[in-house]
Amino acid sequence: MTCCGVCDGIDDQFDRKTAQRELLRFRRRGPIPTTKRLIDALRSAGVSGATVLDIGGGIGAIHHTLLDAGASTAMQVDASFEYVQSAREETARNGHANRVLFLRGDFVQWAANVPDADIVTLDRVICCYPDMESLVRNAAAKSLRLLGAVYPRDAWWVRFGVRAINATRRMRGSKFRAYAHSPSAIDAVLRSQGLDRISAQRTWVWDVAVFARRNA
Ligand SMILES: C[S@@+](CC[C@H](N)C(=O)[O-])C[C@H]1O[C@@H](n2cnc3c(N)ncnc32)[C@H](O)[C@@H]1O
Repeated sequence: MTCCGVCDGIDDQFDRKTAQRELLRFRRRGPIPTTKRLIDALRSAGVSGATVLDIGGGIGAIHHTLLDAGASTAMQVDASFEYVQSAREETARNGHANRVLFLRGDFVQWAANVPDADIVTLDRVICCYPDMESLVRNAAAKSLRLLGAVYPRDAWWVRFGVRAINATRRMRGSKFRAYAHSPSAIDAVLRSQGLDRISAQRTWVWDVAVFARRNA
């Protein structure tokens, strides 16, 4: 599948070494703590029989876990070639190959070709994309019931950290940039798309939130 300018920087950042390291960690220890919090919050809201759209799913921790927990099928759309390869490898290893579809590319560009799903996830993805509004609006439009997201919280040390990461990337000649988009602006886009927050958790760096479709 072809990709865009965004994928150049992403492939640079999320290369084979990173993908394989994360896959090994997932096999040994399961999802990282914030992903686990998101998965647990989604499971509390009910995942049995649900279809899942995991946008920017990385090595696929969310859909591997939700399929084991009773979700029916999943689709992962991810801009990173190596993450898609690693997620596909783990999907086959888990015996889920006939239940998961993969699309490598910028979700915003491909949104019109992506089917709706009961559960849509954006786990640490919004912070990798410059146009928050298009990403979140298109993701929300695909959600029939729930949307789970992990994004940087609104704190000075987070904004400082993002600036430091970007300065390092710039010095190394990488095109990848991180973004600390405003959580209240993310909330506002989701609300305008008919999704209301039903759960919220916070770490020093991340907001972990689940939104549900009004009148679903
Ligand atoms: C920091 S990684 C997070 C991976 C995984 N969700 C996790 O939390 O471990 C960000 C992911 O978002 C993907 N991504 C960023 N922007 C994207 C976009 N517009 N469309 C699809 N994937 C995107 C990247 O390729 C990468 O897999």
